[in-house]
Order: sequence, then C-alpha cells, then structure tokens
Amino acid sequence: MTSKELRQKYLDFFRSKNHTIISSASLIPENDPTVLFTTAGMHPLVPYLLGEKHPAGNRLTSCQKCIRTSDIDEVGDTTHHTFFEMLGNWSLGDYFKEKSIEMSWEFLTSPDWLNLDKNRIAVSVFAGDKDAVFDQESYDIWKNKIGISEIKIAKLPKKNNWWGPAGLTGPCGPDTEIFYWTGDVNKIPNSFNDDNSLWVEIWNNVFMQYNKTSENKFELLKQQNVDTGMGLERILAIVNGSADNYQTDLFKNIINKIEQLSDKKYGNNSEIDKAIRIIADHLKATVFIMSDEKNISPSNTDRGYIVRRLIRRAIRYGRQLGVVKKMWIKEIAKVVIDDYADVYFELQKNINFIITQLDKEEEKFSKTLELGLKQFENQKLKVKSISGQIAFDLYQTYGFPIEITKELAKESGLDVDEKGFLKYFKEHQDLSRTASAGMFKGGLADASEETIKYHTTAHLMLSALKKVLGNHVSQKGSNITAERLRFDFSHNEKMTVEQLQQVENLVNQAIKQDLIVSCEEMDLEQARSKGATGVFDLKYKEKVKVYTIGLGDNIFSKEICGGPHVNQTGILGKFKIKKEESSSAGVRRIKAILQ
Ligand code: SER
Repeated sequence: MTSKELRQKYLDFFRSKNHTIISSASLIPENDPTVLFTTAGMHPLVPYLLGEKHPAGNRLTSCQKCIRTSDIDEVGDTTHHTFFEMLGNWSLGDYFKEKSIEMSWEFLTSPDWLNLDKNRIAVSVFAGDKDAVFDQESYDIWKNKIGISEIKIAKLPKKNNWWGPAGLTGPCGPDTEIFYWTGDVNKIPNSFNDDNSLWVEIWNNVFMQYNKTSENKFELLKQQNVDTGMGLERILAIVNGSADNYQTDLFKNIINKIEQLSDKKYGNNSEIDKAIRIIADHLKATVFIMSDEKNISPSNTDRGYIVRRLIRRAIRYGRQLGVVKKMWIKEIAKVVIDDYADVYFELQKNINFIITQLDKEEEKFSKTLELGLKQFENQKLKVKSISGQIAFDLYQTYGFPIEITKELAKESGLDVDEKGFLKYFKEHQDLSRTASAGMFKGGLADASEETIKYHTTAHLMLSALKKVLGNHVSQKGSNITAERLRFDFSHNEKMTVEQLQQVENLVNQAIKQDLIVSCEEMDLEQARSKGATGVFDLKYKEKVKVYTIGLGDNIFSKEICGGPHVNQTGILGKFKIKKEESSSAGVRRIKAILQ
C-alpha cells in the first residue's frame, strides 16, 4: 500500500464514521508562547478539548504534520523521525472509550481496511495511581468486547499509559496503546511486554478527561474527549510487512538521491544506514519547517536554531558518507518537495525561499566544517574531555552547534563540559534563547483571562498595523503570555515614532469604544468574501471560525481564528507598545503590554 492510499484510507474510514476531515494545521503553533512546533495532531485542537466549540463539529479526523525536536538525537534508527505525519481522530465530548477502541480495532483488522493479523496485536492500559484510577473500563472493553486475551493486555503506570499535557498545563488523560508484533509470526510471545522492541507501538488512544493546572492538579474537564494518534510512517511500514520506516515510499526517492550523491547503498551497513537516515530525516524536516508562511530561516535563536542544527548535522553526515558534490542539500530538498507536493501545497509555493536558504546555509557551514573538524581532532588528542572553551570556540569560530560537538565527542568516548560552554555563550548573549539554554521545553498557552485579553489585543493590533502601514502587513507569528504580547508581521522598514503612535491610538480607541467581539462559523469562501484575514489555503476547505470586533458599519477587525477571545474590548485596559525591532529579513516584531 502506498502512503497516499493509506492516508486516504484512514481519513475515509473516519469520514464513514461521521467525522469531519480537517486540514493539517501549520507546523508553527498559533498564539502559543511556549512551544516551537506542532508536536501532535491534538496540538491545534487544545481550545476545543478544553470546551470551545469546533466549527467542524465534535467528531474530527486529520493527518497532521508534526515536528518533535526531542527526538532529534534518536534519529538514525529505523523508527525515529524529527518530521512525521500523525493520523488522528477526535471526539470532543461525543463518543468515549468503547467506540474509540472499537473503531481502532475495526480499522486495523477488518479486511475492508488494513486487515492486520489480530494475533500480532497486544495492548496496554493505565494501571492507576494517586491522580487517577486504574482504567478498568478500557481493560474490560479489550477483553470482553474485542476479545483480546488477558495475557496480551498489560497494565502499565503513568510513565507508559498517560498522555499529555503537551506542555506544563492543559488537557491530558490515561491512554490505551496498541502494539504490533514485528518479529517472526511463529514466535509471537505468549505475554506482552513493551520492553521487547519487536512489539512496536502503532496507535495511541488518549482519553482526555483531565486538565492539568499550574498547581499540578488534575481537574475533570467539562467534557470527555478522545484524542488518538498513529504515526503514518510507522503504520505504513507495518502494513507493508517491514519494521523499517525508511524503506517506505515516504523515504524511497529521498534515499535514492542520497545513494546517488554519496555512491553508497542503503541497507547493508549500519553506520552508512544511520547516516543516510539522519540526512533524509533532517533535510525533510528542514524543508517542511521552511515551507511555513512564517519564513523560518537558519539562525541562532528559537526555530531558526533548530533548522540550523538540522541542516548542519545533515551536512556533517553527508561529508562522512563521502558526498563530494558542492551545494548538494538542495537536491534532496527538491525530491522532498516533489514527493509531497500534492499533499502539502505550501512546499511548492515556497520552493524559492527554501532553496535559497539551504544554499546560503550550506555555503556558510561548508567553509568552516573541514577546519572545525581538524580543530576537533587536534584537541581530541590533547585532552580527556572537551572543555567549555573549546566547545565555544567550535561554535563561535567554526559554526558547530553544541549538539554536533557533543556527538563528535561521544563518538570518540569523550565528555563535553556543557555547563562551561553555556557560561561562555551566555556571556555572548547571542545564544541565550537557544535549545541548549533550555528554552525549548514543551508547553501550551494557558487559557487564563489575561492571556485571552492579549489574544484579542493582538487582533486589534494587526488591524491597526494594516490601517497605518498598508495591506501588505500579514501576521508572521505571535507569542502571547499573561504578561505581554509579542507579534511578528511582514513589513520592510523600521516603523517611525509617528506610525507607532498611530497604531497605539487606533488600538486604544477601539478599546475605549468597548466594541463587541463576536464569532461566526462559515466556510472559507464566505470568510474570504467578507474580507476576513487569515490562512485560506486549507486543503479540505472545512468550516472556520471568524472573530469580528465591532458591529455594523463600525467593524474594526475580522479574522479567521480558533479563539478564545474576550466578549467586549472595554475590559482590555490601556495598550502600550514597548518595542519595535527587526525579527528577520522583511519581518518586524512588536512587544506590547496592557496597563
Ligand atoms: N496525543 C497523543 C499522541 O501524540 C495521541 O494523539 O500520541
């Protein structure tokens, strides 16, 4: 089965069960200050899991693009990825455990759908602890309704069978996981033990009943939700009888290209295979991140740093594989774009940006890579561990992300003084916001009253910016907390003091007028014809929510947005811009507060 067929089959199955297919959201979460990338299909749905009404109904399904930076160092084996697609289905206060488990079972084992061997399937359920009780209900459904024998149902603790919140707070709950035996069919163990790596987890059904609060309490949510996730790469490999995700059509052309460029073959040698997988994964992830409208390019901070790290690691492994061609990484990028072009339109749309950025970064890093590696080799002979100063020199002079230095050191059995490194680079401030500085922990925007106020203020500000600077202004990212808003938008020049004053005045007038904030659901075409701003290139053209600030002839802003927002602008307080600065080429950043 091809990836296209499988993706479609999954969505068709859930459509036949009355789910609405929703488009993949952007890889860059909207209005979420604490997370760099969308890490799961549930991520864009958090407000709805917390009780907001979703315009497409209470049964949803999607194939969501995801990036998991926590897995970057694991990439290299047959199952880990930085970029992957997650198939998922959701019940927002509709069906719960029984229906969810029954549908998963039907999709996996029915001859009409995936037709997997039932004997190879085992499951795990939550064993219970001080926060929540043993999931007897799921256990009984598997045993009595589905007919899985007791020895193939493991009861496991929170570490295994609990999902979420995606960050520090938010929706979470016990889960039941479905495993598939990828070993010899004659050697299916009698019992199930998830320590045996031949049992591969294929699907996770989370029963999201709780909201974890900032006081570490588990409160029952307004509604009982289901959130499921199944990695497309993994299930595709399994359906096709392999345990190596990199041997599926999602990697075939990319790997062929790497083979061609390096004159090496995939599948014969573990070191070569590892390098090939790292290059394939990292460059695919890079292409997807850079295809986002927010124009992420390699840099030393935030998402840009992740992109830089992925590209540079891929280049280093390319050298290790013996790729001699110069400016080669774009060749891989073109294959990625071709392979996914009809599923993710944004790739082709942003191809020029992607290729230009890749060329620039390769040129920059290739100049210093050889010298840096030589420097590392020299040091290695002299020392027992890599000092903070050497690591910083490799970073500063040769452009080695600390993660590459750590990896090189590990390969030679050496330690790196990371604390020492951090001391040096904090002194240089430049990198104070990178992953290495510990800023990339997951987490979801809280739904506190203050944060919601800033969210509505961001709408007012975007509209004011358009009025003052012109219609070319579009949102490039936002970062909203309970204390302030940070907002990136497209504009080529520094704003003047007068322009900043005008924006402040417009927003404050809108606040003074105490405008009503209303929400309507409509299809994309309607939203477009009503002049709403927002993202219009949804693949499935589903219904969207449009938030309008103001009424009748006095409409201040109209935006496609998932919410939540305040009901009236009068409660927002006084709006003040604290800073306006460059964020990246053609993008400005405003930091503002409410007083
Ligand atoms: N959120 C769960 C996961 O990521 C299920 O979708 O595994």
